[in-house]
Amino acid sequence: MSDLNLAVLISGNGSNLQALIDACAQSDFPAQISVVISNNPEAYGLHRARDAGIKTVTINHKDYNRREEFEADIQAALDKQPIDLICLAGFMRILTSSFVERWPNRILNTHPSLLPKFGGEGMYGMNVHKAVIEAGETETGCSIHYVIPEVDQGPVILQKTLDVRAEDTPETLRERVVAREHAAYPEAIRLIASEKLKKQA
Ligand code: GAR
Repeated sequence: MSDLNLAVLISGNGSNLQALIDACAQSDFPAQISVVISNNPEAYGLHRARDAGIKTVTINHKDYNRREEFEADIQAALDKQPIDLICLAGFMRILTSSFVERWPNRILNTHPSLLPKFGGEGMYGMNVHKAVIEAGETETGCSIHYVIPEVDQGPVILQKTLDVRAEDTPETLRERVVAREHAAYPEAIRLIASEKLKKQA
């Protein structure tokens, strides 16, 4: 089977993008990154992609009045090369259902909680870790899941858990959760590639 072609969508730091870049550098990893798209021209992840020699495209949502127009340009950027999977990696825009429905079972997201807990609109980045601590959770983690129109409700592919410590702050929790995401995202892609292989056999 040929490698899966990934498009990675980012908005910021891009440490999950980096984890995918590093995974793709392993000779047995069943995927390659064909394009990185950022809605934020300042995203540090754009440097990570360029350093790895990956094509980057910036589509600034602030340049658009309507989400549909913003997404039409994302779609056009995706259409420039074959893409098997879209990987949202800290992409902080909610995609419309018409975009999501164009890519059934082909958009993945990493979310910094044990979904369905602490998901949905408004639950992103540091907000999630704050909410986990405020709720007195003893366990948290990350979820790699398929994207469906309902935010953070798509089928979970895999989760990794970790203990919340009494001394944790949102920042310390974020650090440990993100480290788990870095392992989980490549693992999820390996899983999808092996399922695809089984289907073809
Ligand atoms: C990650 O923790 C990711 O789960 C989260 O943003 C962070 C991005 O970090 N995404 C969401 O909250 C989306 N709902 P990164 O830019 O360093 O990969």
